[in-house]
Amino acid sequence: MLKMLALVSLAAFAQAGGPYLANGVRVGEVDQDSAIMWIRTTAAPQADFGMLPIFTEGLGADDKDEGSMPADVLPGMSGEVQVQYMAVTDQAPNIQDTDWIPVDNDGDFVAQIPLTNLKPGATYTYLVRARASGRDEATAGVSGQFQTAPDPSDDRPIRFIVTTCQAVRSIDSGAAGHHTYQQMLAFDPHFFVHTGDIVYYDKAPLAKTVAEARAKWNLMFAYGHNRDFHLNVSSYFMKDDHDTLVNDCWPGQTYGDITWEEGLALFREQVPMGEKTYRTIRWGRDVQVWMTENRDFRSANTAPDGPDKTILGAKQKAWLKRTIKASDAKYKFIITPGPIVGPDKPGKNDNHSNEGFLHEGQELRDFIASQENVFVITGDRHWQYCSVDPRTGVVELGCGPINDEHNYGGDPGYQPEWHRFFSEKGGFMGITVENGEARAEWFGRDPDYAKSPVPMMRHRERLGTK
Ligand SMILES: [Fe+2]
Repeated sequence: MLKMLALVSLAAFAQAGGPYLANGVRVGEVDQDSAIMWIRTTAAPQADFGMLPIFTEGLGADDKDEGSMPADVLPGMSGEVQVQYMAVTDQAPNIQDTDWIPVDNDGDFVAQIPLTNLKPGATYTYLVRARASGRDEATAGVSGQFQTAPDPSDDRPIRFIVTTCQAVRSIDSGAAGHHTYQQMLAFDPHFFVHTGDIVYYDKAPLAKTVAEARAKWNLMFAYGHNRDFHLNVSSYFMKDDHDTLVNDCWPGQTYGDITWEEGLALFREQVPMGEKTYRTIRWGRDVQVWMTENRDFRSANTAPDGPDKTILGAKQKAWLKRTIKASDAKYKFIITPGPIVGPDKPGKNDNHSNEGFLHEGQELRDFIASQENVFVITGDRHWQYCSVDPRTGVVELGCGPINDEHNYGGDPGYQPEWHRFFSEKGGFMGITVENGEARAEWFGRDPDYAKSPVPMMRHRERLGTK
């Protein structure tokens, strides 16, 4: 236990000279026995939040959505990093450590370190340290924790969070970033899924070069609440249009100087994702999640609809159906960057609930309706909702954007034929599965206690079983 106390007491230190760890750490792609740790070495202990007013104030009602992203808001710095980690158990601690791993300018000073041979269903604590190349003493350290997925035989309760759509322009808490990240900790999730639009290259300040795009990521995860949440929660990151390239994009397009291939490479560089852009993870006896990839394989939005027009691509679609049919998890959640049920706001043509992808949308809704206890969780849309497809009965849970400020671009309004719940506000959605029962809850800020670390529940929906 003494060694554990030593680990904790070293948390979040920094010494003059650097390298520092101003972006914290993100722990991604966690399954029963492995995880990927994302670490970036920085030249300063925090971002230069004073560079532009929008960094701490967000975009005001009268401000124009323009201006360029400063590429040097939080420069990287070469160095070395190391991870020490251990499972929290009743037995004597067994601290494991990695080698000191060099980090340099090749890839924005990011290290992605795989952790393997982890125990299922365990809480891990860790300490990440940085040091200058070739030196012995550490110059910075951060510590946190994460959970590994329980085995399919493990019937413990599972809680997870889904959110979407956050931007520099919707910052609500100054250098602390998005208040929702503090409130999400109060939900005490086992894991977190971001369905995409984690940054917006094409919204103020605009990022039209690879350097500017990297700077946007560097800033987003230097905000206090955003960084501290990810230090302590296992996370999965999915991409959508604005963090791939530009609004409603498809393969082959460009944005400013950023090519499609550079957009894909940037995303893999800036989040712990590994090789698979679509994947399924089992979380204990009752929960399995599927996270789909909606940009890499899609047809042009403008192509005529028909059996060959696709968002998922043939290979991913076959994988999705095959693995859902094979699953014996009680609750199956398809987490998608864009809606399958909707309804969407008028004039969109980018997802399975739109007319432009009607054929594949129908195919997916029919398939989901033919399976037991499959629920769709979607991001992308800037409102919170629970809808039921009038034709098939498929239930879709729209998590909504990161905060109320992010209700950009309108919404369809409450549609009684579809909606069991509708709110034009933001926040996050939490799913709880316990004792074989599942519920979805939508949270946000209480207007009377706007800075409360505890979120206000807007709606609870029991998820029925067949
Ligand atoms: Fe969005």
